[in-house]
Amino acid sequence: MEATQNSLPEIAIREYRLDDSLQIKECLLVLQDFVHLLEPKIVATGSKVFDSYFEYLINEINKKDGKIFVVESRNAIVGFVGLFVTQEEWESEKSLYISDLVVLEKYRGLGLGTKLLEYVEDYAKQQGAKFIKIGALEKNHGALDLYRKMGFADYLVVLLKTL
Ligand SMILES: CC(C)(COP(=O)(O)OP(=O)(O)OC[C@H]1O[C@@H](n2cnc3c(N)ncnc32)[C@H](O)[C@@H]1OP(=O)(O)O)[C@@H](O)C(=O)NCCC(=O)NCCS
Repeated sequence: MEATQNSLPEIAIREYRLDDSLQIKECLLVLQDFVHLLEPKIVATGSKVFDSYFEYLINEINKKDGKIFVVESRNAIVGFVGLFVTQEEWESEKSLYISDLVVLEKYRGLGLGTKLLEYVEDYAKQQGAKFIKIGALEKNHGALDLYRKMGFADYLVVLLKTL
């Protein structure tokens, strides 16, 4: 059954497999195009970077004890979350850093983003992590609302000056 307004499709969240890579790239394209529209002068379009970004993400995940969890409905990936462990030179604790989160358009507003974040939180607790970090463009009000609803608080602010 496809998602209709206000109906949650049957879903499962599971770890990424190699044969998911094409669908993950499609999700990355959607994510990147979404953020491009919010900041078109700074953020590249999906088609320009999704391939190289996918390689970067897999690399980071392999290097930094990361994971990709996908949300699947009827054998199709409809969203995913990517994360890895980070610790800046100036920080005393490691954090689990969520680098990417996306739900395909047709499936938004049904609670899947919330479910993916809850899944990550359970995983982080199992791993003994003390903090989860996530970043968003200041203009991405929907994502920021979700993160604040899920208990994330502002920690680091990046400022930008146009020259
Ligand atoms: C952000 C995103 C992952 C949320 O996924 P989702 O499955 O739609 O989220 P949920 O259904 O769990 O929404 C939970 C809450 O998030 C907030 N929210 C999510 N998307 C929103 C939007 N477009 N506008 C306003 N609020 C939004 C709301 O507070 C919502 O609660 P509500 O349903 O009670 O209003 C999804 O909208 C998405 O993929 N967006 C494009 C890519 C993106 O911005 N990724 C994050 C980059 S930082």
